[in-house]
Amino acid sequence: MTAQLIDGKLIAQQVRDEVAAEVAKRLAAGKPRPGLATVLVGDRVDSATYVAAKQKACNELGMVSYHHPLPADISQDELERALRELNADELINGILVQLPLPGHLDEERVLQLISIEKDVDGFSPLNIGRLAQKGRDPLFVPCTPYGCIYLLEKSGVKIEGANAVVLGRSNIVGMPAALLLIGKNATVTVCHSRTKNLPEVVRQADILIAAIGRPEMVRGDWIKPGAAIIDVGINGIPLFNEDGSPLISEKTGKPRQKLVGDVNFEEAKEVAGFITPVPGGVGPMTIAMLMRNTLRAAQIQQGD
Ligand code: GUN
Repeated sequence: MTAQLIDGKLIAQQVRDEVAAEVAKRLAAGKPRPGLATVLVGDRVDSATYVAAKQKACNELGMVSYHHPLPADISQDELERALRELNADELINGILVQLPLPGHLDEERVLQLISIEKDVDGFSPLNIGRLAQKGRDPLFVPCTPYGCIYLLEKSGVKIEGANAVVLGRSNIVGMPAALLLIGKNATVTVCHSRTKNLPEVVRQADILIAAIGRPEMVRGDWIKPGAAIIDVGINGIPLFNEDGSPLISEKTGKPRQKLVGDVNFEEAKEVAGFITPVPGGVGPMTIAMLMRNTLRAAQIQQGD
């Protein structure tokens, strides 16, 4: 292995420790506990798992989480009413609506309704619009891309002047990651399913952020020697027995899976200069940055 491993678990823990220390200082000074409202519409198991982890982190860091599970068939009006109440509630500093929403709901209208001072996910059009404009700063940066940039900076990777390639253009990761890199003076190429000569484009990257959701798509020979690789992908791939049959978990009776990123780690680590593992790379950073944003929301609202 030639690449330096970027330990997201360790760096996320450092961020969490800093947030917990700052929260404790605020409490000692008689200030209220920062509060985060989590809104979960419907019963998607993956979304419920993510939200539970966010609530747990809040409690561990001395903040309060207020959970709002809502039925999958809630109407747009009812959801908007719930959000208006959260906007007006002084105990709540941050509001997080877990995405995706059920198909009948208008995501854009929902995100637009969240007060900009409470938009700790950074997904409201105002925050994203500011991120996209030169010389303007959003109040909050979306948590996963924020975590990607934080990992690069903590690892000493120079962003200014670098050729950065972002694989994927989602609203949650790819697009805000590209905007953040532009803001830090990288030269950015955004690739997607229609990009031609993808391996050739990726080979130009000093920095690669892979967020395309395709298991191990990026091969070692796509990577420029010494590049910094941030792998956002979390893909489950099935495991097999030697005879080719699916490997079944004795505990759950279900087929066993292994988590892999969008980058073939074994190949890439021999070429790259820096690389994040999956799991233990970008994953833990999303919640750590959400905690940072929630603390910042409390600081903004309490006038510090
Ligand atoms: N769904 C997948 N990632 C995220 C995230 O960072 N925030 C929210 N609200 N929903 C998501």
